[in-house]
Amino acid sequence: MPLLALFSLLYYVIVFSLMHSPSPSYTFSATAAAKDCTLRNSFEPSFVAEGDFVIGGIFPLHYNQEMPDQNYTYRPPPVKCNGFDPRAFRWVQTMRLAVEEINYSSELLPNHTMGYKIFDSCAYPLTGQRAALAVLNGLSEDDSPMCTGASPMLAVIGESGSAQSIVVSRLLRPFRIPMISYFSSCACFTDRRKYPTFFRVIPNDDYQVKAIAQLLVHFNWTWVGLLRGDHEYGRFAVQGLLRELQGSTVCVAYQEMIPLLYNTQRALEIISSAKVVVVFSAEGEMTPFLRDYMMQNITGIQWVASEAWVTASVFTGREFYPYLGGTIGFGIRKGQIARLSDYLQTVNPQRYPNNVLVGELWGSLYGCNPFPSSANHLPICSGQEVLLEQHSAYMNTSSPRVAYNVYKAVYAVAHSLHNLLLCQPGNGPFENNSCAQISNILPWQLQYYLQEAKFNIAGEEVNFDLKGDSVPYYDIINWQRGTAGNIELVNVGLFDGTKPAGEELVIQEDKIMWAGHQSEVPVSVCSPSCPPGSRKAVRRGEPVCCFDCVPCDSGKISNQTKCMFCPEDFWSNKDRTACIPKEVEFLAYDALGIPLTVISVVGASLTVGIFGVFFYHRNTAIVRVNNSELSFFILFALILCFLCSLVFIGEPTFWSCMLRHTAFSITFSLCISCILGKTLVVLAAFTATRPGDNIMKWFGPKQQRAIIFSCTLVQVVICAAWLIDAPPYPIRNTKYERSKIILECSVGSSLAFWCVLGYIGLQACLCFVLAFLARKLPGNFNEAKYITFSMLIFSAVWLAFIPAYISAPGNYSGAVESFAILASSFGLLFCLFAPKCYIILLKPQKNTKQHLMGKEKK
Ligand code: TRP
Repeated sequence: MPLLALFSLLYYVIVFSLMHSPSPSYTFSATAAAKDCTLRNSFEPSFVAEGDFVIGGIFPLHYNQEMPDQNYTYRPPPVKCNGFDPRAFRWVQTMRLAVEEINYSSELLPNHTMGYKIFDSCAYPLTGQRAALAVLNGLSEDDSPMCTGASPMLAVIGESGSAQSIVVSRLLRPFRIPMISYFSSCACFTDRRKYPTFFRVIPNDDYQVKAIAQLLVHFNWTWVGLLRGDHEYGRFAVQGLLRELQGSTVCVAYQEMIPLLYNTQRALEIISSAKVVVVFSAEGEMTPFLRDYMMQNITGIQWVASEAWVTASVFTGREFYPYLGGTIGFGIRKGQIARLSDYLQTVNPQRYPNNVLVGELWGSLYGCNPFPSSANHLPICSGQEVLLEQHSAYMNTSSPRVAYNVYKAVYAVAHSLHNLLLCQPGNGPFENNSCAQISNILPWQLQYYLQEAKFNIAGEEVNFDLKGDSVPYYDIINWQRGTAGNIELVNVGLFDGTKPAGEELVIQEDKIMWAGHQSEVPVSVCSPSCPPGSRKAVRRGEPVCCFDCVPCDSGKISNQTKCMFCPEDFWSNKDRTACIPKEVEFLAYDALGIPLTVISVVGASLTVGIFGVFFYHRNTAIVRVNNSELSFFILFALILCFLCSLVFIGEPTFWSCMLRHTAFSITFSLCISCILGKTLVVLAAFTATRPGDNIMKWFGPKQQRAIIFSCTLVQVVICAAWLIDAPPYPIRNTKYERSKIILECSVGSSLAFWCVLGYIGLQACLCFVLAFLARKLPGNFNEAKYITFSMLIFSAVWLAFIPAYISAPGNYSGAVESFAILASSFGLLFCLFAPKCYIILLKPQKNTKQHLMGKEKK
């Protein structure tokens, strides 16, 4: 039997006493084996019960071990386990209760009994391995059926911590003995090739890390620390959580490990900046760490507990509240075990007079030693101690979670065995439709039935998926202050992994009490969120949660994270928090518009005044000599010119845009045409004085009007063509200044615009040249020199206008043009009329034909 051989190799070393058996053809017999094989080491089981079907149980009854010294000068004593854990003791009692219930039951396994062998793993892989080997062995050489028959061990309930379960599973694997863990949640067990016989009644941690990630996101904790114990459970959970947090808003400030060889120095370095710390660890390794943390008096950390310690009763004392109060975490599903409380009370030193564990339980609950025979520094118990609800670590049966898992696990084995027994020969699941042999059930046959098992327990359906996993469900547990100042675990929500994504987490936030006895959700961020109007700017080389805030560019707004452009025609306000309609700007009656208006009105009035003066003195020499009709024309044109500049002020409309350039160009053309006419007449008059010339008849009043008319007509034609083909139109200019809408006139066709200006320029130049020629002609009052001068000023103004116009920003181009119009109009007005007005009004004695002709007597 290969199984048997392996067993022998593993632990039972059969010592052949060659002295007693000289013959090599030694054969095994029950008696011979009992005599000749000895146990290398024997371990006392914590609890044993005989039965037809024996299952093993491995529980962390102690949470600490003491390694013996490594001096091999004497037989090393076994590893000593310290720190009795009443909670695990309760789990053990739950297993015993379940087995007893099944044995009493007439429905489940009738006519058969279940037995058990329960060992202490000491919450450590090495000692867990010892327990696993002990489970496989017989208890002593005498009752060792190992050497004669098959393993009586059908299944193992265990272990608690994943690290230990891994070791146990590896030991059981060669023998195909199924194990059902009640607390090992490590995601690593989903690898069916590595752990083919592993089952569990606790959800895989993949669900828990998903739940924790959702919790962190829910409370907007974006800067969290991760802390774990030095074991597979911690390693895989942190790995899983990091994977879950990838691409989420949460950043990990640090991830640290509580070292296996505990070291205060290192532990104190661990707790740093993040306020929210997720811990994947169990009370055993957390205790020294927490003690140091409490010594430093560091409070205000919001702990997020994993299922491994969120229901640990070790920390519920009142001294822990300031440090651990407010802790939130995911606890595994709880259940009801009706008879548990009564059953636990049956345990007492009188009933188990030799059980060391019961002694230790009494020691930890009452601080006394019930067994006077055993050496112990505790005082002897009075015998009056009674188990009460308040011995919470042991007696807390209000909401068994892990104990319930143990219960489920035992029932799973029982149901599987029951189904196995129901097998009809010839209809079985095994080769040739065979069934398992009841007297010799092989563990792998039980595994088949375990995989298939499906049963109800307290209304909950239990089954295993192909990976041996169970249904993901968690309670959200919050540590609140109880009436006695101790810590009470309050249910504040749940996570149901079977629900569709996004609906799994249900939290009753108002029920939660946070760290530091706060009712407000603690804040844990690297950088506080940006105020409205600014955006995040990630710091180089730092996690995305650490950022600076920079104000949005003008024209963009933000509500904390990103800056976005305002819609068209809107612009950001000063704080960049809202989009407001853009400011509309045009040359209005404001600081710029009013002076221009005043100047133009003044100019026009002045011109009207001069017109009046001239009209009043129309019969005096100076008016008559200087071609009075043309003078009036010029004055009229100048009035129009002054008024033209008014069209540039005010909101541009379709009509005002068309009027602007055309009105001004035509009036200017008219004005300069008149001046041109005047110059021509002057030039002609003096040229005509030469004998034989009759030039004057070409410059009579009719001809003059014709000249003026035709010269102006050219401009009118250009303007008409312009208006017909591509008239100026109002536009909303948003390019010049993006924060404003500038209402202005587009010229429509710039060619036409420059043609119009060019024509006026041409006229002015012609006028200038002719006047220049005539400037030296005789006469005291030769208008030609004034015309020359006025044209110089006119040209200067308009030459200056061109660059100013091109570079003038937005609405100022209108003002520039308007200003040029006013300036040149004033130039003309003063140059042409000021000298005459001077003579008319102030030197009337010079207003004679003789004087003007320069022919008066000296
Ligand atoms: N779910 C944990 C695990 O799988 C529970 C646990 C039990 C634990 N004992 C532990 C975790 C000891 C860390 C250390 O391991």
